Amino acid sequence: MKLGFIGCGNMACAMMGGIIKNQVLSAEEIIASNLGRAPLERAQRELGIKTAQDNREVVRQAEIVVLAVKPQVYETVIREVAETVRPEQVIVTIAPGKTLNWLTETFGKPVKLVRTMPNTPALVGEGITAVCANESVTAKELEEVCRLLRGFGRTEVIPEHLMDVVVSVSGSSPAYVFLFIEAMADAAVADGMPRKQAYEFAAQAVLGSAKMVLESGKHPGELKDMVCSPGGTTIEAVRVLEAKGFRSSVIEAMKACTHKAKSM
Ligand SMILES: NC(=O)c1ccc[n+]([C@@H]2O[C@H](COP(=O)([O-])OP(=O)(O)OC[C@H]3O[C@@H](n4cnc5c(N)ncnc54)[C@H](OP(=O)(O)O)[C@@H]3O)[C@@H](O)[C@H]2O)c1
Repeated sequence: MKLGFIGCGNMACAMMGGIIKNQVLSAEEIIASNLGRAPLERAQRELGIKTAQDNREVVRQAEIVVLAVKPQVYETVIREVAETVRPEQVIVTIAPGKTLNWLTETFGKPVKLVRTMPNTPALVGEGITAVCANESVTAKELEEVCRLLRGFGRTEVIPEHLMDVVVSVSGSSPAYVFLFIEAMADAAVADGMPRKQAYEFAAQAVLGSAKMVLESGKHPGELKDMVCSPGGTTIEAVRVLEAKGFRSSVIEAMKACTHKAKSM
């Protein structure tokens, strides 16, 4: 099995790293190309993958090809490789806003397409990737792509109309969580805690809380209530967060993110 990546930036490296670390594929089974040589040389050095001089070479050698370039580069790359794509090949996309219809039109021919939205926690094997496919992709092929994606986290097959929402709730959301962790750590530093320790406390609290939501099956509101003792410290913090519009800030930010994803 040969997996190809066109574009060898942050997301491609996170995906490749997970796939290799979890022995879903060996490094020799992965080939990548990139515009500049530096990211490619780094990936070759750090991950041991094979590299190609140009994007068409990746398409020639791989059975499944991931288009791991920025959304604005998709059209250029697709036009460059379209002729080389074989009918039995599966193309995996990871860009927001690039619909299956748009992709088919841009390739200008029938292509097996799997549209996905991963996120950077893939780097530590804790990603979640949403997946949808066009009708040319068989159940077996879709499962094969999901097997690769599970190399760096969970996968969920979803209807395509939810893909823009996924951009906001998982593709981009690590950035909001990092902001939240940084803000909590800043507050702890302001109250005298050393910065390194503050990041550890804040990050571990987020990690543990996320695990509680996933593993207890309890409603997040119920878990919040469990921390808020009557007349206690936590409800004071919750009161101020509500007064400052914490919840609606998150909702409005995510709606802006989804709106942007739809327009890309
Ligand atoms: N980062 C995330 O959290 C995240 C999450 C979900 C989805 N995504 C999606 O993943 C895709 C990649 O994002 P990223 O964050 O990995 O971006 P990135 O780090 O900028 O990587 C993109 C890579 O594509 C290369 N490239 C540009 N033009 C090319 C071309 N014509 N042919 C081959 N390679 C080319 C760039 O090389 P040069 O640097 O040499 O130009 C760069 O190394 C995007 O569509 C993004 O929306 C990202």
